Amino acid sequence: MKHEVLRMIRETDSYISGQEISEKLGVSRTAVWKVIEVLRAEGYDIEAVQNRGYHLVCYPELMTGTEIMSRVKTSWAGTKVYYRKETASTNEDAKDLADDGATHGSLVVTEYQSGGKGRRGRVWTAEKGSTVAMSLILKPDFSPSKASRLTLLMALAVAEVIHHITDLDVKIKWPNDIIVNGKKVCGILTEMSAEPDYINYVIIGVGINVNNTEFPDEIKETATSLLNEKGDRVGRTDLIVGIMDFFEYYYNVYEENQDIADFVDLYESYLVNKDKEVRVLDPKGEYKGIAQGINDNGELIVQKEDGSFVRVDSGEVSVRGVLGYV
Ligand code: BTN
Repeated sequence: MKHEVLRMIRETDSYISGQEISEKLGVSRTAVWKVIEVLRAEGYDIEAVQNRGYHLVCYPELMTGTEIMSRVKTSWAGTKVYYRKETASTNEDAKDLADDGATHGSLVVTEYQSGGKGRRGRVWTAEKGSTVAMSLILKPDFSPSKASRLTLLMALAVAEVIHHITDLDVKIKWPNDIIVNGKKVCGILTEMSAEPDYINYVIIGVGINVNNTEFPDEIKETATSLLNEKGDRVGRTDLIVGIMDFFEYYYNVYEENQDIADFVDLYESYLVNKDKEVRVLDPKGEYKGIAQGINDNGELIVQKEDGSFVRVDSGEVSVRGVLGYV
């Protein structure tokens, strides 16, 4: 109920009385007052004026479950948040929670991961308190073969939100790295537990370099943060709330249509590889070609040097620019 009290105070421009909150939530005024005290202890500056009620003067830059749940505008994405101050990996936590019955749209968020996982068995390191590390639990009704498209939709949601909040020239490196000025600001790791014809759950893990400034030597040349590129700090919860909003919309459309046709143009407007020469690192043999764009299944269409077209599936290969990472 803490996030519900916070939401009511946040969404009232002037004052909201303890009476009104207690009636709406069906709890006593003393219970409301106790929650206000807890919120104050967490750093929320809540003014209380006799005969008028409560007013949120300002709030700290928090990324807690209460903060996120009091701000999301969605029906299911991020409406239940599991906040961990520190953990090994939010993707691993999300899997355990999904196994234990966590509902579709539950979100795991942390300030720091000691064992953050990247794609292809790599590690994902991040400075404490300055990045977004989160994992969204999904329990889709469609077939396992359709799950990989969800990664592209998440990439699109992240790109859109970064663009709207920061106005940076954000790009997507197919299928799901988010790039600003040629360097990576966000990686996405999707994992699935499924039977041949049935998805138990999909976990979409998102790591965004937001206000961090230090990068390990191995990734210094290819990684950056929003702060580095913009010169201003960016609110991590603003990003999360926005991403939940966009992703929920994209997911709902995808669930209905079973393809991403509605989003191909938008995705391609962010696609850094579009019309560029790429190296496709296929385990069966590397080749070069020009990336044309994506199809309704999210596959990258590459025209090879011999003129033939290949549909590249994200599961199998990795794509690089001919001169380097992008
Ligand atoms: C990549 O290699 O580009 C994917 C990186 C994914 C990192 C995120 S951070 C939150 C979630 N938990 C993890 O352990 N990994 C993902």
